[in-house]
Amino acid sequence: MLRLLVTGGAGFIGANFIHYVMAHTDLQVVVLDKLTYAGHESSLAGLPTDRFRFVKGDICDAELVDSLVAGVDAVVHYAAESHNDNSLADPLPFLQTNIMGTYVLLDAVRKHGKRFHHISTDEVYGELALDEPQRFTEHTPYNPSSPYSSTKAGSDLLVRAWVRSFGVEATISNCSNNYGPFQHVEKFIPRQITNIIDGVRPRLYGSGENVRDWIHADDHSSAVLRILERGVPGETYLIGADGERNNKDVIEAILVGMGQPADAYDHVTDRPGHDLRYAIDSSRLRTELGWAPSHADFAVGLAGTIAWYRDNEDWWRGQKSAAEAKYSSAGEQVQHGASGQASGAAATGQVISGQVG
Ligand code: NAD
Ligand code: TYD
Repeated sequence: MLRLLVTGGAGFIGANFIHYVMAHTDLQVVVLDKLTYAGHESSLAGLPTDRFRFVKGDICDAELVDSLVAGVDAVVHYAAESHNDNSLADPLPFLQTNIMGTYVLLDAVRKHGKRFHHISTDEVYGELALDEPQRFTEHTPYNPSSPYSSTKAGSDLLVRAWVRSFGVEATISNCSNNYGPFQHVEKFIPRQITNIIDGVRPRLYGSGENVRDWIHADDHSSAVLRILERGVPGETYLIGADGERNNKDVIEAILVGMGQPADAYDHVTDRPGHDLRYAIDSSRLRTELGWAPSHADFAVGLAGTIAWYRDNEDWWRGQKSAAEAKYSSAGEQVQHGASGQASGAAATGQVISGQVG
């Protein structure tokens, strides 16, 4: 395999993958990305032009996709509408890109006989109870909760059907929550880091007991490369790094890591349908394909991520006010401060903006 087409390569995880591939392989890469609000060509600046080409376009554009797929050996499909909160406000783009876009790509790899790897999420499995000992495995039934996760589940099922009905050589990976550089400031960790930089108190949805299983984006990339090299077509692999943490602990770690009191945050309106816990059992990937994560220490990875946002304000500044405006227009309100007292804004029923400290 020499040439990859990577969809969504200007987004968070796609851009991390491209940098990883450039540093660790000699593969040639074409990125196809629509540059939605979530895509940034600047995340791919400075890559070698003899190995890297950027094409701005939509994965739903069948003619463009056909011509690009014809010229590569394999397709790695990251492009998606990816944010749960946006999917609650406006589901249609999620259906278009995540379902129809995946269909267009599958049709092209089928026609040209190309290898396909589909990037998906653990959210297709729904939620776990906090005390459930069994984590998600490749055999967990699908039970998605949100418009986002249901469209990802739908796209996974399309891939499985194209494998079985048409013999497409495809693999699927379902990964847990990623963190690292280049993540849009609408998402949990970068939202809180950039709020603190701006002197605004971080926002915790509901009680903050919700658990996410954090993995560094570089570990996601190494796993995807391993699946491309050694994965068995038709199979699904779960990617996770045993990184379960509740949101309250993460927000406190961010505050302390940025020199603030651990309780300088606000509880805000909870997300409707908010999944309680995700947790991945990645034994299959580890035992069958010999993969292991290398960013085992979340505190170290988080410190690196905080440093990246401090050092790269030019990259995120332009996204910040639009992201916060979306939360305000969705009705996000401060419920109370960390220790349970009504904050000034909540007490007067206003939409927010408490200062840190
Ligand atoms: P992102 O929102 O940061 O990036 C998505 C990228 O896709 C953007 O560059 C955007 O411009 C592009 N895109 C959107 N619609 C497109 C279209 N119609 N045509 C072409 N390009 C389009 O998302 P992310 O967090 O990097 O997620 C990437 C993939 O990984 C998604 O498939 C997501 O479901 C999956 N995933 C994400 C996480 C996570 O923690 N963020 C975890 C597991 C799986
Ligand atoms: P998010 O980054 O949106 O990822 P996902 O919904 O795919 O898990 O959110 C991660 C967790 O953080 C999720 O439980 C919702 C919560 N959250 C907050 O508590 N505050 C916030 O401001 C945001 C954006 C998310």
